[in-house]
Amino acid sequence: MEKERTNDLKLSLFSGFSKLSRQERFDRLMAMGALSKEDVKFLKAGSPLDFELAEKFIENVIGYFQLPMGVATNFVIDGTPRVIPMAVEETSIIAAASKTARWIGQHGKIETSLLGREIIGQIQLAHVKNPLEFQSQIETHQDEWVKLSNEEVAFGLKARGGGVTRISTRFIERGDGGHMAVVHVYADPCDAMGANIINQVCEFLKAPIEEVTGEKVTMCILSNLVDSRVTRAQVTLEGLDEELMEKIEEASLFAELDPYRAATNNKGVLNGIDPILIATGNDWRAVEAGIHAYAARSGQYRSITRWKRENGKLIGVFEAPLILGVVGGVTNLHPSAKMALRILEISSAEDLSRICAAVGLVQNLGALRALTTVGIIEGHMKLHIKNLTLGAGAKDKEIPFVQKRLEEILSLQKRISLSHAIEAVKEFRSKPELTKSP
Ligand code: MEV
Repeated sequence: MEKERTNDLKLSLFSGFSKLSRQERFDRLMAMGALSKEDVKFLKAGSPLDFELAEKFIENVIGYFQLPMGVATNFVIDGTPRVIPMAVEETSIIAAASKTARWIGQHGKIETSLLGREIIGQIQLAHVKNPLEFQSQIETHQDEWVKLSNEEVAFGLKARGGGVTRISTRFIERGDGGHMAVVHVYADPCDAMGANIINQVCEFLKAPIEEVTGEKVTMCILSNLVDSRVTRAQVTLEGLDEELMEKIEEASLFAELDPYRAATNNKGVLNGIDPILIATGNDWRAVEAGIHAYAARSGQYRSITRWKRENGKLIGVFEAPLILGVVGGVTNLHPSAKMALRILEISSAEDLSRICAAVGLVQNLGALRALTTVGIIEGHMKLHIKNLTLGAGAKDKEIPFVQKRLEEILSLQKRISLSHAIEAVKEFRSKPELTKSP
């Protein structure tokens, strides 16, 4: 009952959010409990960051690079309303996500789950003389090595309920008649991304593997293709127009079958995911690599989302690895990342990955809905008008005139560009009656 009241309050506070002033947005987010007074003070001061802090992250520091940070609204994921912090430069991503989430709220629901928990480390042995014997030696010792790794290296993870879980072996034909062996080490990283720990475990196992097998280890490193820890999101919609559902299904089939379209489809999904990764200080390169590799696992690059009609419903699914952390590294040091995690009100890496999967799928739906109805120009360029206006150098009192002119051109010609904006600025400046202050 109490949870329902809080959820209802949050949903009502989302209403009309995009029309609010910055102060009103702060007030609403404080009323939801998403921001504290200190957060607001920090944001108002321009989110100042220490030079010393930057030096902890990277070398040869000269300053910070700032991106706009906003919040996507109207998301109800697994029954819980969520404010989604997003750090991103691309116009319309946050607006499209919030608008689509509101539409989903009217027609259906978003559900998420985690399929598997283990991340993967790889130990390469470039030339193995006797693959069968090698495999049998690994199998004989694997339980002992799992135990040893947990005692000597991953004891922290083990204590938190995770740790190294199993070891397996793969063989790869080298193409020169020889065999390459790859030992896979699996571990549950709990709430960390687990990169450091899995790398340490693999390095640790190098000596016992070489000693027992008499073979030579070439290198050890984690794999970003984590098909043993896949995050799933599902959107179910009811009561939609049959023609719209069919069009979205067709758009989805296009992305499933054609790699050229799949790349653009997946870029649209990542429009929803990357801004959260950046806002929370996660390694977006690792996630991108993992998602693209997973999308190509059949040998052809395909979409990581699927939309299908089923019994009068439209069902969309996202499935891909999303290896994230909420402890360790930048997530706990960078004040904006810490704030983004507080805004999300999550305590685990699993929750964060489920939210990312949901937002990616919703972003995809927003794009497919726009592309199969009004088209990208109307949905995207309308919001781009603001950027073009500023890009053309329009000053304060010129902005409304230039924006209006661009909207007219867009609705007539179905296309606008920077040159239209520059023309509109020139037009304004050439008309003395417009340039005079009231
Ligand atoms: C643009 O940033 C993203 C889209 O191209 C995604 C898509 O085509 O599905 C609109």
